Amino acid sequence: MRDSKVSKGEKHQQRRDVLKWLLGTWSIAVAAPGLKSLLEYVTPRKPQSTQTLIQRIASTADLEPNTAKVFKVNKDPVIVVHTATGQFKAFNARCTHLGCVVQFSPDETPPHFICNCHGSEFDINGKNIAGPASRPLTPYRVIVRESNILVAKI
Ligand code: FES
Repeated sequence: MRDSKVSKGEKHQQRRDVLKWLLGTWSIAVAAPGLKSLLEYVTPRKPQSTQTLIQRIASTADLEPNTAKVFKVNKDPVIVVHTATGQFKAFNARCTHLGCVVQFSPDETPPHFICNCHGSEFDINGKNIAGPASRPLTPYRVIVRESNILVAKI
């Protein structure tokens, strides 16, 4: 009889230990995201340098009117087109269908971008106009400064 009381007491203690462990684990799981947010608030991230935001990729002399070239900007292929009317435009060259790199087709009327993988086509403003691509090309901001072509993500 006495042994069973002791073992009951031990069982209760074991249950309390398990409950304490579960409560401790749950408290950590609940508090961790809040602590992370608090740490991020107290130690804000450094802003990205402007070099990664705006990047020189070519000289205006590198692109004749009605031509385009693909440049690597960070890890993305960026197609820069010098239109027949003298504008510079830039887009992420990855086709929005499955990611093949598009090409500029200057001899078409009007000139536009084509993707040879599955036939998507995009107008000079990057808008999808034919083929399976359902979204426009991602535009980049173009800045022409002292004969330099600079691009930046929008
Ligand atoms: Fe461009 Fe499919 S990847 S059309």
